[in-house]
Amino acid sequence: MTYDVTLIPGDGIGPEITDQTVKVLEATGLRFNWDEELAGVSAVEATGTPLPDATVESIRKNAVALKGPLTTPVGTGFRSVNVGLRKEFELYANIRPAKTILPGGRFENVDIVLVRENLEGLYIGVEHFVQIGDDPRAVGESMAIVTRAGCERIVRYAFEYALKHHRGKVTIVHKANILKMVSGLFLEVGREIAQEYAGRVESNDMIVDNTAMQLVLRPEQFDVMVTTNMFGDILSDEVSGLVGGLGLAPGANVGTKAAIFEAVHGSAPDIAGKGVANPSAQMLAAAMMLDHLGELECADRIRRAVVDTIVADGIRTRDLGGTASTEEFGRAVARRAA
Ligand code: NAI
Ligand code: MG
Repeated sequence: MTYDVTLIPGDGIGPEITDQTVKVLEATGLRFNWDEELAGVSAVEATGTPLPDATVESIRKNAVALKGPLTTPVGTGFRSVNVGLRKEFELYANIRPAKTILPGGRFENVDIVLVRENLEGLYIGVEHFVQIGDDPRAVGESMAIVTRAGCERIVRYAFEYALKHHRGKVTIVHKANILKMVSGLFLEVGREIAQEYAGRVESNDMIVDNTAMQLVLRPEQFDVMVTTNMFGDILSDEVSGLVGGLGLAPGANVGTKAAIFEAVHGSAPDIAGKGVANPSAQMLAAAMMLDHLGELECADRIRRAVVDTIVADGIRTRDLGGTASTEEFGRAVARRAA
């Protein structure tokens, strides 16, 4: 079987880390039919638009994409392509696993998967200023929209993820004590769905501010976590921080029409083109893509190859204190993944 996948190398270090990631994916023995497409600044330079129709069409056809980071111009310029893709393909679930890789850090046993609702809540961006007297910006007003259907599908996604990946517990994170409707609805639906999985997946719920503290004090108590958009945005970065920052963090954006896999970090313009970027996060994102395709064994093999290359072989890129180039690291991981 050959998998049709849209490949977007992206900007900055994107092409370098994507090259090595493709090498590792192919080393597993799986076969891919890569449809390489442009997005971001590289797309603007080549076609005049940051998200060409051909890219959107390719993702629509394949329903699976592996994407490099895209540079977003600050202030002026085009809107975020990442947000555009999220809307276009209704990518309602953002999944961020965080697992301790390097020993000797602050936490030894972190293994958390955070599932964030990606389309609703305060981030829908329905906001305006209210004029008072002659001050046109006297009051800022914003609306959070949370739907029962949206809560259901994200919570269900989290429980199904737990089942598929043999994880024992889902924690529902909310602020229903204060936000009785928008967060109250999420908690109510969350508890209903938790009932359906009783006996198969354990669950509990926790208020978001306490969760932020518990993550720092006792992160081992968490397994899968599920929460609404803004809480998830904040907690997912906190969770990455627990295991040493964004350098090793992969992510997935999954929707009804497509799933897009990428590293959490950006295009790292400061080191682009130098051949020193760490491709680990992109490789771990590729492993999540294989999970999604049902290739669980190959996915695990890639994860193990990355960890063993870093920990057992001590082959590390500069950001992890080593001297390996992107290519040397990639070659080492590919050897182990084969
Ligand atoms: P960044 O993540 O690109 O870089 C932050 C720091 O981490 C830099 O010092 C960089 O050299 C280092 N770094 C990042 N990834 C690395 C890797 N794989 N190996 C070694 N070092 C690495 O964040 P920054 O500088 O805020 O953003 C740069 C550009 O990336 C911006 O245009 C931003 O909009 C875009 N961006 C895109 C994302 C995406 O497409 N998913 C996500 C985050 C940022
Ligand atoms: Mg964020």
